[in-house]
Parts: sequence; C-alpha cells; structure tokens
Amino acid sequence: MNTKPVIILAIESSCDETAAAVLSDTNILANIIAGQEVHKNFGGVVPELASRAHQQNIIPVVDEALKKSGVKREDISAVAFTQGPGLLGSLLVGGSFAKAFAQALNIPLIPVNHMQAHILAHFIKASPPGPLSEGEGEQSTPSFPFLCLTVSGGHTQIVLVKDYLEMEVIGQTTDDAAGEAFDKAAKIMGLPYPGGPLIDKYAKLGNPLRYKFPQAKIPGYDFSFSGLKTAFMYFIRDNGLDNTCTTPEEFISRNLNDICASLQHTIVQTLMNKLRLATKELGITHVAIAGGVSANSGLRNALLAEQEKGNWKVFIPPFEYCTDNAAMIAITGYYKFLQGDIAGQDTGTKARLYF
Ligand code: KG4
Ligand code: ZN
Repeated sequence: MNTKPVIILAIESSCDETAAAVLSDTNILANIIAGQEVHKNFGGVVPELASRAHQQNIIPVVDEALKKSGVKREDISAVAFTQGPGLLGSLLVGGSFAKAFAQALNIPLIPVNHMQAHILAHFIKASPPGPLSEGEGEQSTPSFPFLCLTVSGGHTQIVLVKDYLEMEVIGQTTDDAAGEAFDKAAKIMGLPYPGGPLIDKYAKLGNPLRYKFPQAKIPGYDFSFSGLKTAFMYFIRDNGLDNTCTTPEEFISRNLNDICASLQHTIVQTLMNKLRLATKELGITHVAIAGGVSANSGLRNALLAEQEKGNWKVFIPPFEYCTDNAAMIAITGYYKFLQGDIAGQDTGTKARLYF
C-alpha cells in the first residue's frame, strides 16, 4: 500500500530566530533559520526589535523552506506554529502567519509548545541521513520513559518524558535559566549577546579549576542560578582591583580563558548533579538534553563521560536542532497531527505556556 506521507510546514518565532521547516513524516526536507544581528550590542534580546525583524523575515524564510523542500503547497497536510512560551510580540508574527497560511490552504492548524518541541527534536530524521558531527552521540532515539534536561536562554528543566506528548516537569529553575547565567556573565565581561557560545569557546582553552564559584543548595531537582550571577559580578569587581590588576577589564583580558572555563565548569556541575540525583532516584538510564545550552561542549563532554562509565545512555541532538529551529516544531506538529490534536482559527499565542 502506498500511503501519502504527512507533510508539515512549521513556523518558529518565539524569540530572536525566524525559522521555517518542512517535514515529511519524520524526515526533515528543509530547515531554514534567519538570526537577528540587531540584538548583539544590547546584551540580550530587545522584544520590540525582535518582532519587527520577524515581520521582515517571515515570508522570505517560509518561501526558502518551501523551495528547498520541493514540496508543493497543495501537498502540505497541516501548518504547525510555536504557540508559546516566548516573547508575545514575536510569537504573534509567526502565529498570525501560520493562521493565515492554514486558512488560505484550508488545512489544519497545529499549535506547538516550544519546550516540548525542544525535547522531540530527538526524533527528527535527516533526509537523506547525514553524517554525525563531533560529540553527537549515536543516531538512535531514546526509549520511553527517559529524562530530558532542557536548558535554554529562558528555561532550565528536568522533564520526565513518558511518551511523545506525555511529559512532566520534575525540576526547574527557581530564578535564572542556565543560558541566562551564561549570557549575563558574558555581559558582565563585556562580551556580546548571546554569550554562551563565546564562553564555551574560551573555556576550551582554560583551566576549569582555577576559580571557585558557589553552587546553590536547592532541594529536589530544582535549580537556582541568580546567586552565581551576583557572585560572578563581585568576583570580577574585586579581582579587577587587587594588587595585580588596576581595572576589571585588565583582569578579564589577562584571565579570560580560565574565568570562562571555571564558570562553565560550575554551571555544568550544577546541572549534572541534579541530573544524577534524578536518574538515581527514578531508576532511569536514558538521558537526553535539549535547548540552546545543549550545544555547550562542557555539558556534552560531562554527559558522554557518564555514558562511558556505563551509567547512562546519552542522547545529544545535532547542533542545528539544539538552538531554536522550526524542525522541532514540525516533528511535534507531526505527532499532534497523528493524534488529531489540531486547533481552530480562534487559537492564540501565549507568552507563558505549560505542559
Ligand atoms: O534554545 P535557545 O536557542 O533559545 C531559547 O529558547 O532560549 O537557547 C539560547 C541560549 C542562549 O542563552 C545561549 O547563550 C545558549 O543557549 N547557548 C549556549 C551555547 N550555545 C547557545 N550556552 C552555552 N554554550 C553554548 N555552546
Ligand atoms: Zn528554545
């Protein structure tokens, strides 16, 4: 029997990436992302500027995704879009576009939770299957139930994943997210946004044990990173005025690699300690990571070391599916489509959205 594949067009616009993807069943046909340079000198995303850039990028990005996929408009089964969580003005651009597109083609509309999508990125298949890049782990998928550490600029969660669309957040940050800790520390050091990738780059050349930073003592599987940010601020100020340096800038430029390595080591250890506790208490051995910070080499290496010890089987998504992208929205849309979980034209976008 030759059944037609399910073709999903997906739109992601929750923060500062305008993205569109086309998926045929679980195979990705196109995955286009337009970043926004405009935030670089502000130390973070400026919501108003993000919405305007989405408005400019959305049509060209969708157009490119459709062209690259070779899919005709009449073959698209449904349109999936990020419903939330995210910046409301940004979400509205993608949401409104998706609604109009679905209405014009008279096809179903599928709202997707961005955090759930980061996790389901593990189930995307490359088309044709591509080679694995360094540190990606094996190209197999985790089995249910598994634990997923979702770490991004806005979230830090440990999620118990029972099935594709059945997930429970068992631990989360009580204040700043892990990505925010990277970005804010970078800002304190005068590095541009987003600081996470830069700290990762310098950390590779530094000594992770040179400086000690505090790790918050929070019960259960929860996290806290705001104390680290404050401690880091005082650390830079005080060391900048000791008897070897005259300014914080001098201290930073002389010791950048070691500072970055030590800070990254602290963040990674904090995440790993809670993950170890959860796997032990719940008796789960399949561990996945998701979200922008899962691109971090220190975190990837710490997970792979745990796998080498024989404790866990680790699942690390390819780099292009770690940070925000529409392929992950498409795969989530696909599973929702199979369940008949579609929405009407009166559905809206939400800055806060839970699952
Ligand atoms: O998932 P994502 O693209 O967007 C959100 O939904 O927040 O995550 C972005 C976050 C930023 O905080 C960025 O600094 C961080 O992921 N990030 C990294 C790395 N690559 C991206 N943090 C540490 N190391 C990296 N290599
Ligand atoms: Zn994200």
